[in-house]
Amino acid sequence: MTASDRRTAWPTGGPPGIVQVEPDDGLDLRVGQPAPTLLPTDLVARHQAAALDRYGPAALAYGANAGPLPARKALAAWTAGAEGGHWTARDVFVTAGASHALALLCEELGSPDARVLVQRASYSLALDLFRRHRLRPLPVGADDCVPTAAELVAAVRAARRAGERIAFAYLQPTFHNPTGRTWTTAQRQAAVEACADLGVTVVEDDPYRELYFGNPPPPSLIALGSRGAVIAVRTLSKVLAPGLRVGCVVGGAALTARLERAPLFAGGGGMAHIGALTVASLLTSPEFPAHLQHVRVEYRERRDALLGSLAAAGGTGARWERPDGGFFVWLRLTGGVLADAVEELSARYGAHVLHGAPFRARPGDGGQAVRVSYSMHPARTLATAGQALAWSLTEASGRNPADDHRTERAADHSGGGPPPSDAHGRHGP
Ligand SMILES: Cc1ncc(COP(=O)(O)O)c(C=O)c1O
Repeated sequence: MTASDRRTAWPTGGPPGIVQVEPDDGLDLRVGQPAPTLLPTDLVARHQAAALDRYGPAALAYGANAGPLPARKALAAWTAGAEGGHWTARDVFVTAGASHALALLCEELGSPDARVLVQRASYSLALDLFRRHRLRPLPVGADDCVPTAAELVAAVRAARRAGERIAFAYLQPTFHNPTGRTWTTAQRQAAVEACADLGVTVVEDDPYRELYFGNPPPPSLIALGSRGAVIAVRTLSKVLAPGLRVGCVVGGAALTARLERAPLFAGGGGMAHIGALTVASLLTSPEFPAHLQHVRVEYRERRDALLGSLAAAGGTGARWERPDGGFFVWLRLTGGVLADAVEELSARYGAHVLHGAPFRARPGDGGQAVRVSYSMHPARTLATAGQALAWSLTEASGRNPADDHRTERAADHSGGGPPPSDAHGRHGP
């Protein structure tokens, strides 16, 4: 079996117990992960070999607590290059991805029952992580994605009046998970200034920033804020490979020194040492921008295929915005359509989507929605998935989609895509 056979084999099976998500049969639009076929195995193999060659046994020893210096330098240069600002290795602490960075920050900045300001819809696993650290998410704003300065001020003042402590504000301004939205520069500036005036540290999580489909996104919050006001959480999971488990906190030398003293590092040294050395080699190579360019084109095609078929199939029952990057489309359900129904019906038509509820910091807040990820499947498959989703929306809206299906099915067979759902024995129209 060649390397490329192995890559294409994973989505349809493979040895159990290797990967976190083993896709079941059907079109899985639930997970927001890089597509198996876009994971750069050859690139990583070459740069890991280069790291071993260069550092020898030091590449396999317990690593420096804050991460190996070449990785910290490369991550500082990447952040400065992609986002602006002036960062050096001293400002960077290497983590095992963004999730680990967030867990560390909960420990460092949190205290029992303190509040974390969050967007009204927010990354579900970050919300879980905060709760697990006994921090209480506090959703801010009328919009699912963008809190205004006035809303931030009102929320913080009300919390403080009630005697609550604010640990930090967790914000994702770019290709937001789950809504796919990106804040304008003015919205970013307003939030950064409001938080600085309130004395609230901003934790900016921006894993999809480099996955833009047109122009690069506006400056990051850390590039706009004054030093120490914003802590950036960055990861290579989405742009390169989550299996490397390499990310970082960029927050200044004082924060780095504080994290270095945490017992976890004193005991075991830095996280993902060989992965970080691999990343150091890769980030400083011209192969990295070439890889980014390749995956941007791929993900853009996937987005277009999904949204094209969703719109062409006349999707009633939902409104959505076209994301300019990242992995997600947020379907805001209209006309009384319930996320439960869309989740169930689309699964019957063969496409699995994610209920919006876990993304709500406050249960029931903000209306019904489902999150759809277009990252995992090729464009041809996503075109079929979009149809399945459109049918489920139509059916959930109370219309009988049978007539629409007849035309779509004929087109589907001639287009060579996966067969419609009734051919899988799931649910005919
Ligand atoms: C907003 C956000 N933050 C963090 C993560 C997790 O990143 P990592 O794999 O680096 O832990 C994800 C992954 O879905 C994400 O969407």
